Amino acid sequence: MVTAYDYTSALLVQSAGIQAILVGDSLGMVVQGDSDTLAVTLDDTIYHTKWVVRGAPQAFIIADMPFMSYQPSVEDALRSAGRVLKETKAQAVKLEGGLEMVPQVEALVAAGIPVMGHIGMQPQSFNQYGGYGKQAKTAEEQAALTEKALVLEQAGVFSIVLENIAHEAARQTTEALSIPTIGIGAGLDCDGQIQVFHDILGLIPEFKPRHTQRFGEIGASIIAAVGAYADAVRQSQFVSK
Ligand code: KIV
Repeated sequence: MVTAYDYTSALLVQSAGIQAILVGDSLGMVVQGDSDTLAVTLDDTIYHTKWVVRGAPQAFIIADMPFMSYQPSVEDALRSAGRVLKETKAQAVKLEGGLEMVPQVEALVAAGIPVMGHIGMQPQSFNQYGGYGKQAKTAEEQAALTEKALVLEQAGVFSIVLENIAHEAARQTTEALSIPTIGIGAGLDCDGQIQVFHDILGLIPEFKPRHTQRFGEIGASIIAAVGAYADAVRQSQFVSK
């Protein structure tokens, strides 16, 4: 899986053969330039998801529920996720959290809304962790993470993102579940992997998170191409027909 945030990125991702796209709330950072994801609104999510669905009509599109659009109550979760599916035509939503999210997950699934879970390092809770550090490092924490995943599976999620956890925790959890795990910074033993579009492409050249691998240097290519265009214009070598 990979993220996408607009028509063009979705079109490119679908053309590359990716079948499932997340419209991540990482858009707060890579699209809006913020230092975290907390300010992303439900309207932002709906706005971006619409264009992703338009660009990748054959893909399975999951919209990331933004901070405080589902935590306050089951009713908030239903209304927010209901809006997302009605207004964007995404097929599923993702939300962060474990045991405390079981009522929300059960209600959404009962309402016909497929839900993806997200545990381990939950970026919407970075203030509580004091940063974005690795989670589930001790044996006890690993057992607790697997337990959390099992509870979410029981509540009805169709898949779970495991973010920035010890690889052994991801291995144990993946083995314990019958639904697929999708890892980011969680090692190779997950059933699948997810990465942020901008990260694998090097779109922001100076930003290189540890959990990512670059498969292109597109940011540098864009800077060079736009620079070449500007030079051509300045030197009157650009001919607009
Ligand atoms: O917001 C996001 O992009 C995510 C993925 C990195 C899992 O939650």
